[in-house]
Amino acid sequence: MKKILIVDDEPHIMELLSTALEDEGYRIIVANNGKEAVSQVKKEKPQVMLLDIKMPDMDGVEVLRQMKKINKATSVIMMTAHGAMDTVVEAIKLGAYDYITKPIDLNKLKSLVNGAFEVKVLDEKASIQRKTEEEHKLENIVGKNPKMLEVYKRIGKVVNNKATVLIQGETGTGKELVARAIHFNSILRKGPFVAVDCASLPEDLLESELFGHEKGAFTGAIAQKMGKFELASGGTLFLDEIGNLDLTTQAKLLRVLQEKKIERVGGTKPIKIDVRIIAATNRNLEKALKEGAFREDLYYRLNVVTINLPPLKERKDDIPFLVEYFLSRYRLESVGRTKYVPPETMDFLIRYNWPGNVRELENVIERAIVMGKGDAILPQDLPLEIQKTLDSSQLTSPSNTRLSLKERIAQLEKEIIIDALKESEWIQTKAAKLLGTSRRIIKYKMEKYEIKKGSIPKS
Ligand SMILES: Nc1ncnc2c1ncn2[C@@H]1O[C@H](COP(=O)(O)OP(=O)(O)OP(=O)(O)O)[C@@H](O)[C@H]1O
Ligand SMILES: [Mg+2]
Repeated sequence: MKKILIVDDEPHIMELLSTALEDEGYRIIVANNGKEAVSQVKKEKPQVMLLDIKMPDMDGVEVLRQMKKINKATSVIMMTAHGAMDTVVEAIKLGAYDYITKPIDLNKLKSLVNGAFEVKVLDEKASIQRKTEEEHKLENIVGKNPKMLEVYKRIGKVVNNKATVLIQGETGTGKELVARAIHFNSILRKGPFVAVDCASLPEDLLESELFGHEKGAFTGAIAQKMGKFELASGGTLFLDEIGNLDLTTQAKLLRVLQEKKIERVGGTKPIKIDVRIIAATNRNLEKALKEGAFREDLYYRLNVVTINLPPLKERKDDIPFLVEYFLSRYRLESVGRTKYVPPETMDFLIRYNWPGNVRELENVIERAIVMGKGDAILPQDLPLEIQKTLDSSQLTSPSNTRLSLKERIAQLEKEIIIDALKESEWIQTKAAKLLGTSRRIIKYKMEKYEIKKGSIPKS
């Protein structure tokens, strides 16, 4: 029996949703407040739940939190008003399956619900035992930009199974962080997280590193050695910088993934393996495919679920949150010293394009905490290349330093929009997507700030 629990305090919405989903053949259970919802989950164990975020006594996020303690098997779809993204981020991090905005588009709702049930079937096939005590915490990953939300959703979808994951992203965007988050939140995990850096090992050592070797397999193999595949048994093998793997090792890896068996170098017995593979790369693998530097069959084996981590310059709205996070993290380490970043310093941090991404930002903040004198981190505590980003702009001219906060934000907003437009070759829809907003807003802002293609110098 396919059961859906609908939780909403507004009777007419309840009515609308119940009718629509009943027509699809689902059995509907309802609750009009948070408390009732929690008790219905216990009693009825619905596979899918539609949960309103805004409710009088207990809000949806709180219901979700309590519910995850009693029944993890229910997939929760949050219903939210437009613009309440903060709460959505929180819910997704807590393990919500997905969300839908009000007013609810019934067709979209139906396909979301059908999708949730399909995923359930796969999960049940894959799952053996569920560890109930594990919490779905992703709080070490900071970011509220829509691109990060997509990342959280994907993580949420692989923690219930052992699917192979390919993480792509520039250097310092958090690939390893995400790989670890997947591992530590995986309910089927029994073994450790083992990482191999495919870029740093010479070809001939890599094979024995991955698959192990028998005593005497080659000169220098004085004892038997277990490979990383065996060490990661029951857990996760993280193949970092997979794009750097040479073609011979690629072929061997492909065979292992197909047969789920390894052979130690110099060994004769195949050994069964049971690991989740997470591969990461900062190279564009599709380009490598075309150039013949990466095997297509291996690519498709690895690319079951892809997670694309956006470069930091495509989610500049997250910079203040990241700064806050690193300030508090390094604050703990250098006992007693608390620091803050005033708006003029934040301007520099937001304007800079961060080729080294989050890692670079982290290093800059850590360095500024150590180097700077007073409690404020000043622009001169930042590396020169970041200070220089302002030189060419009007922000440094003396008349502008007295601008109000509002005016300064407007200036920054204008710059960010121009950057996005340039990056999208002035296609407004594309720029809107980059910034996680609508084309209408971009158009409106372009008029407001008098941004015209012809009047902007090419950079
Ligand atoms: N979203 C994030 N929130 C908080 N910290 C982050 C985030 N993304 C990255 N970091 C931090 O930035 C640093 C670099 O991240 P990580 O090592 O995961 O990057 P990477 O993509 O593996 O980089 P590389 O390609 O250079 O190996 C780490 O200290 C990590 O904790
Ligand atoms: Mg890395």
